[in-house]
Amino acid sequence: MKKITIAIDGYSSTGKSTVAKQLAEYLGYIYVDTGAMYRAITFYVLQNKFLSTTKFDKKALLDALPTIVIAFKKENVNSKPEIFLNGTNVEVEIRTMYVSDFVSSVAAVPEVRKKLVAIQHQMGVEKGIVMDGRDIGTVVFPNAELKIFMNANAEVRANRRYEELLAKGDDVTYAAILKNVQDRDLMDSTREDSPLVKAKDAIEIDNSEINQEDQFHIILQLAKDRIAGRV
Ligand code: DC
Repeated sequence: MKKITIAIDGYSSTGKSTVAKQLAEYLGYIYVDTGAMYRAITFYVLQNKFLSTTKFDKKALLDALPTIVIAFKKENVNSKPEIFLNGTNVEVEIRTMYVSDFVSSVAAVPEVRKKLVAIQHQMGVEKGIVMDGRDIGTVVFPNAELKIFMNANAEVRANRRYEELLAKGDDVTYAAILKNVQDRDLMDSTREDSPLVKAKDAIEIDNSEINQEDQFHIILQLAKDRIAGRV
């Protein structure tokens, strides 16, 4: 069967990775969460104290960048791929609010983007991939057969994220999450290099009032139509 490339972009906490994972599992495709890659570099930068609320030592980041190894690996054959930073699994560490608060600054650095986009290209050479992020349909795979652009109102998104982090036992407030979602949207869509914009040929889905199951079936049908060559 023909394999396609599926690009899922959109604003923070719109549920991109949930639906991307569901699609990849259903279609037997590779799933790549590119946000995790930007988060892993951010975690490295914070660990090494190159970045804080008062300074960003970009030179230190640029010097270290060639030595930073980002890879997705499975802990065992049955587990899902998780992100490794220089050989250490950082899947849990990268999801904290601490990393969320700084990731948009690191993701705005062109050299960081260049490095990660090259890895992402490589992962998609054989198609059969669902990749989610901010620039997948515009920069990484401009020829993707299916491009989805996801949105939802900021309060709905912040609330979903709040519930998720509370369930994990994180000590967070709804107000801090709403601010983080709004700040990241603004920084991600106004940065100079590869800003978050809807690709001209992307299909926009506002899921403020669509449940996960319905959304999955809508996107799956769009994918099936392209795999079958109906579109
Ligand atoms: O998908 P996420 O919320 O985990 O992504 C974290 C941040 O990484 C997001 O605020 C912007 C950045 N990002 C990016 O600039 N380009 C991508 N392809 C994916 C994420």
